[in-house]
Amino acid sequence: MLISRWIGHPRFLQAFRFLAALLASVPLLFVVSGIAAQSLGPDPGQAVTESLGLAAFQLIIATLCMTPLKRWTGWAGWLRIRRMLGLFAFFYAMLHVLAFLQFILGWTDLWATFTKRPYIIAGALSFLMLIPLALTSSTGMMRRLGKSWKPLHKLVYPAVLVAWVHYVWQARSDVGEMVFYGLAILVLLAVRWKWTGSRGMIPFVRG
Ligand code: HEM
Repeated sequence: MLISRWIGHPRFLQAFRFLAALLASVPLLFVVSGIAAQSLGPDPGQAVTESLGLAAFQLIIATLCMTPLKRWTGWAGWLRIRRMLGLFAFFYAMLHVLAFLQFILGWTDLWATFTKRPYIIAGALSFLMLIPLALTSSTGMMRRLGKSWKPLHKLVYPAVLVAWVHYVWQARSDVGEMVFYGLAILVLLAVRWKWTGSRGMIPFVRG
């Protein structure tokens, strides 16, 4: 069919990847332009931290959407942007943590922040789980890790759940948004559970 030939064309896939990268860069452009225009409100540091955290969270969810989209539509193009979206998510999570350290904490009393703001423990846990995923995302690492790569990358499931806990825990309003993200995560995990069973969901377990 003409359409399937068209969407499978290397040029189309390249344009699709470019568009996805552009969309994933929007939160960063928003933050940078907001800082430049000084339009981020009375507490720009807080606004920057929150925007970057939300972008990281949304991009992990977007990354988790790619496999179901491939299965439901049969189009392999979704998988071509999966790794890139995951890396964008990690990039934003890293900037979020740096923004927190710079603008909110001021690089002081790092330890006390865990007791004063316990939701940060959840954020830190999620971030720690994202680190090995980002470090092993390259094709070279995939080859080197072989059969251990997939069990390791199942860490994304607890990482997104704990990120959601962090998000809900720190929030003061917008319950609707949290419920929406929570439901989206539940659906994404439930479809995987259906496809792979519980073993397919547990990090470091093969199968
Ligand atoms: C060491 C790691 C982390 C620290 C220290 C941290 C810190 C924070 C802080 C200070 C806030 C703002 C809370 C407030 O408004 O008072 C926040 C919000 C948030 N963080 Fe994190 N975070 C961490 C990791 C993560 C990770 C890994 C994610 C997602 C993958 C994430 C997603 C979010 C989200 C979605 C929000 C809410 C943003 C909003 O209100 O729109 N955080 N975090």
